[in-house]
Amino acid sequence: MKMPKLPKPFQVVLDPKTGIPRRYERKLVRRLSDLRGFFLDNEFVEGKLARGKNPIIYEVYEIPQSPSEGLFSLACTVLHPGKVGREYYFTKGHFHAKEPTSEVYVGLKGKGMLLLQTRKGMVVHLPLEAGNVVYIPPRWAHRTINTGKGKMVFLAIYPSDAGHDYERIKKSGFAKLVVERGGKSTLISSPSLKK
Ligand code: F6R
Ligand code: ZN
Repeated sequence: MKMPKLPKPFQVVLDPKTGIPRRYERKLVRRLSDLRGFFLDNEFVEGKLARGKNPIIYEVYEIPQSPSEGLFSLACTVLHPGKVGREYYFTKGHFHAKEPTSEVYVGLKGKGMLLLQTRKGMVVHLPLEAGNVVYIPPRWAHRTINTGKGKMVFLAIYPSDAGHDYERIKKSGFAKLVVERGGKSTLISSPSLKK
């Protein structure tokens, strides 16, 4: 898609209490049912859904630009606190569909982690909390995990034509999981949780 003739500058005001933009274009809500097959403990997920419980895991407040080289979109994610079994709530995680695109995350509230993984399975994890700015280079899948007691909020800035490839990461999963052990968040290799 071609860039609009002359995109207009604009300002986004983040609510100081919540971190959520005061104006946004679209709000996505991801509930437990949307993350079926993502968490390791499927029984936990299905049991909860069968009991009529379908909690919100995260919300994304988007300020998108039309998909075009040279434009950035903005999105604020609110990741709720909680666990599925021992696994902390997380975002689905994705590669960018347009591979050579990078992204910047700015931590606004709460406490968590950013898990990054290449196609070959190399994994890096970085803390993400208020005051942290994390650079996500091209070709690294990224997932955020809320390891705190409150909501974790961060702002993402990414090329408007980056797109999301969820399928690949859904199929292979992340090589590492973040679980609670002895009251602490611990990074473990994925298969070690399997019963
Ligand atoms: C955009 C981006 C974030 C995520 C958001 C939700 O490239 O990385 O805005 O889209 O945190 O996570 P996913 O998209 O993995 O469900
Ligand atoms: Zn992204």
